Amino acid sequence: MVRIAVMVSGGGTNLQALIDAEKAGQIPHGKIELVVASNSKAYALQRAADAGIESAVVSRKAYASQQEFDQAILDTLRSHEIDMVILAGYLSILSETVIQAYQDRIINIHPSLIPSFCGKGFYGLKVHEAALERGVKVTGATVHLVNEIPDGGRILLQKAVAVEEGDTPEVLQRRVMEQAEWILLPKAAELLAAQLSEEE
Ligand code: GRF
Repeated sequence: MVRIAVMVSGGGTNLQALIDAEKAGQIPHGKIELVVASNSKAYALQRAADAGIESAVVSRKAYASQQEFDQAILDTLRSHEIDMVILAGYLSILSETVIQAYQDRIINIHPSLIPSFCGKGFYGLKVHEAALERGVKVTGATVHLVNEIPDGGRILLQKAVAVEEGDTPEVLQRRVMEQAEWILLPKAAELLAAQLSEEE
């Protein structure tokens, strides 16, 4: 069974989709063993507690340097014998140390069709503001492997979502979550967990 850690920063709706998918037997090769939050206020921590999943808070500002932060992240993942990491609305930067320790074992959900509206500075509502600003008729979500380039790793899954007349960034974000993110992330989690199970 592949041991999964989900890293969060906010409301945790993607974490909830993973928890619900696991309960529904849609992630047979993996088990969410740990939730790592970048701050203690993340509602995602409440979702983890409600699901009986162990959690940890590793906050960048609690460490003097990026290196010490990275080491704390690695120590937390290793002490829970984590095999695979899912970034679900996670907003802290993971440097190469962590990415290399989990080469091709970290996936991220990005709320656009990469390569549109991605990379440095494109996160949360900003992604949807940019899509509406550009006037695209179709947007969506992407799950990709994490490498040292922000939103640059190999694309695993994508799903398109229509932009509707009069959409606000909030309305569009919600539609992309409901119609794409919450569907793609559990699917990608099982895809990678199944692949890693074969390698074990
Ligand atoms: C949202 O902007 C979502 O599009 C992106 O991360 C943010 C928070 O998601 N993936 P969550 O509710 O914390 O999962």
